Amino acid sequence: MEKNVSKELSEKIYVAGHRGMVGSAIVRNLRAQGFSNIVTRTHAELDLTNQLAVKNFFEQEKPDQVYLAAAKVGGIHANNTFPAEFIYQNLMMEANVIHQAFEAGVKKLLFLGSSCIYPKLAPQPMSEDALLTGKLEETNEPYAIAKIAGIKLCESYNRQYGKTHDIDYRSVMPTNLYGLGDNYHPENSHVIPALIRRFHEAKLSNKSEVVIWGTGTPRREFLYVDDMAAASIFVMDLDKSIYDQHTEPMQNHINVGFGTDITIAELAQAVSKAIGYEGKINFDSSKPDGAPRKWMDSSRLNHLGWHAKVSLEQGLTLAYQDMLMKLS
Ligand SMILES: NC(=O)c1ccc[n+]([C@@H]2O[C@H](COP(=O)([O-])OP(=O)(O)OC[C@H]3O[C@@H](n4cnc5c(N)ncnc54)[C@H](OP(=O)(O)O)[C@@H]3O)[C@@H](O)[C@H]2O)c1
Repeated sequence: MEKNVSKELSEKIYVAGHRGMVGSAIVRNLRAQGFSNIVTRTHAELDLTNQLAVKNFFEQEKPDQVYLAAAKVGGIHANNTFPAEFIYQNLMMEANVIHQAFEAGVKKLLFLGSSCIYPKLAPQPMSEDALLTGKLEETNEPYAIAKIAGIKLCESYNRQYGKTHDIDYRSVMPTNLYGLGDNYHPENSHVIPALIRRFHEAKLSNKSEVVIWGTGTPRREFLYVDDMAAASIFVMDLDKSIYDQHTEPMQNHINVGFGTDITIAELAQAVSKAIGYEGKINFDSSKPDGAPRKWMDSSRLNHLGWHAKVSLEQGLTLAYQDMLMKLS
């Protein structure tokens, strides 16, 4: 295993998007490690699409490190309905935060992207070098383009200013995440929170079966959000020479996945078990399946010494408890 550099617990760390699912997990993890100088702003206090407000914030706070976990995110429906908002707001947030961080002398920054940056037909598992090798999935192309721009912003600032200004801006690309702070909205949530809610409601109303859209055969990968936070901090803290050995100046991002994927049918079984639902699970194969497989190649991160720790079973139990607390 490669060694991380020693940590300065007094460093001032700005977590952008600290009330979001990933940002809040990063704050939890940093606090648990003993970091106490964490700077946050709510969306209402600081709109990251506002260039002047972001400039003033960085001039005033001058953090040592930045985690950029703020983004406008949403499902297929939202991405299709509001493509202009998705591309504009994400580009603005990234450009403002990365440029103003640079102007304020921030040496270390971590940008959070998404697996949707990879081409729709990328070979599986999707490795970092699949970036910009083919057409993107149409439904979230504007969002993906903004995320690719975020990676390229980090790379370009490193290439132009890395040596002269001693900056080191990195990117991580998470697979599908779930866990504390997830959104359990009945119509507008990702697959795991949607299944948790459906099986929970089926259990409460003693329904004899739960019907799931599609054949149940597509394969997907899921990572617990606290593992994502731990991976983000691990990557941020890696020694520069080690990070540089494992990346290229123009391919500077690192995938963060669980390592293995499962079918939707296996996932449904695992969720029903975590919830304690005892009815049947059926599949409506007349409904669309989506891509047959979406699986990240996390070997770059694994070679650096990081592996996911939270099993799907543990993660689903924690996520279910979280949903119950939210509903109570
Ligand atoms: N969740 C996943 O499965 C997943 C998977 C892969 C990648 N990611 C990536 O991880 C990052 C964080 O995702 P998440 O799931 O944590 O999203 P989230 O829960 O929706 O959180 C996003 C955060 O960004 C803030 N934000 C949005 N627009 C802002 C603005 N204009 N100014 C200031 N703050 C703003 C939000 O604040 P408000 O709520 O107040 O607007 C929220 O706190 C994103 O880059 C996403 O692409 C997530």
